[in-house]
Amino acid sequence: MPGVSLVGSGSACLTVKLSNDDLSQRVDTSDEWIAARTGIRQRHIAAPDESLTVLATEAARNALEMAEVSAEAVDLILLATSTPDDLFGSACRVQVALGATRAVAFDLTAACSGFVFALVTAAQYIRTGVFKTVVVIGADVLSRWTDWDDRTTCVLFGDGAGAVVLRAAERDRLLGFELCSDGSLNHCLNLAYQPEAESLVGDVAVQKGTFAPITMNGREVYKFAVNRVPEVIEKALFRANLTTSDIDWLVLHQANQRILDSVAERLGLPAERVVSNMARHGNTSAASIPIALDEAVRAGNVKAGDVIATAGFGAGLTWGSAIILWG
Ligand code: UT7
Repeated sequence: MPGVSLVGSGSACLTVKLSNDDLSQRVDTSDEWIAARTGIRQRHIAAPDESLTVLATEAARNALEMAEVSAEAVDLILLATSTPDDLFGSACRVQVALGATRAVAFDLTAACSGFVFALVTAAQYIRTGVFKTVVVIGADVLSRWTDWDDRTTCVLFGDGAGAVVLRAAERDRLLGFELCSDGSLNHCLNLAYQPEAESLVGDVAVQKGTFAPITMNGREVYKFAVNRVPEVIEKALFRANLTTSDIDWLVLHQANQRILDSVAERLGLPAERVVSNMARHGNTSAASIPIALDEAVRAGNVKAGDVIATAGFGAGLTWGSAIILWG
């Protein structure tokens, strides 16, 4: 069975920054509250001309460049996003923008767990021998769906995109994984369609409407994250035949610094093993893990042979962990 190797990472560079002080001009909040409760100091926001497709393409291009893989060599593009430019999907537009003429491309939606779910999905295509080269992208523009007058959510999110390149290899470097869903907790975090009946002809009415902004029960999601995430990482480690002491880097979905600290503490990992870019990016949903990974790789912190424990968690509710050997 072919194995999976991760051979490159990339992210998009967004120029517009929104600081906590900027936000406090819009809602009743403060830099002190946001920094103390979440660790966030600023987030990046997509400019009106920076579509999801543009950001995802930039991240993928940078990952391909690091991997020294040409766009024509890509067999599959998996775009994890909850905020496509088109509800029919944005991956095909990324495909054409990249020049990945041979690739099949599709979107995958699993909110903030999207990158981990897409990574594991991509790996199955490689392990079965169907595809040899895959680009996995996590990208979201949640600013489109944020209620900018709701201080309980608008201070948390930012926009971004990150990507990795996977290739078939002799040695499998996806060491273990575990994915979970619990729809009974769906109400805790939503970006739901709000139908409005519109009469068509006679008794027939159609659903018109749009998606309502993000709503979240922060305390419930917090409790869910600090309990379920250490558990799912331990299950993925078990499948990898490893223990927490084997982890070189913990790369979690960047939702809240307090969640990162609590998960690390429960796993018995020192703070220096935890990758955090919370302060600069906030919560970028499906993009947060690949951005954090890419920054750590480019800073020279994550090196070939390092064991990385990733974990995503969020709406669905969904959560999952993938243990990978970098390089
Ligand atoms: O990516 C998906 C996963 N999402 C998450 O993981 C989010 C998980 N949840 C959290 O990170 C935290 O629950 C939050 C950061 C969302 C909230 O932190 P908290 O410590 O749970 O605060 P809280 O909701 O318990 O609110 C405490 C107080 C409340 O005031 P009262 O009722 O005590 O008077 C809120 O109204 O803080 C108030 N508050 C704010 N104050 C200033 C809530 N938001 C703000 C704000 N600025 N932005």
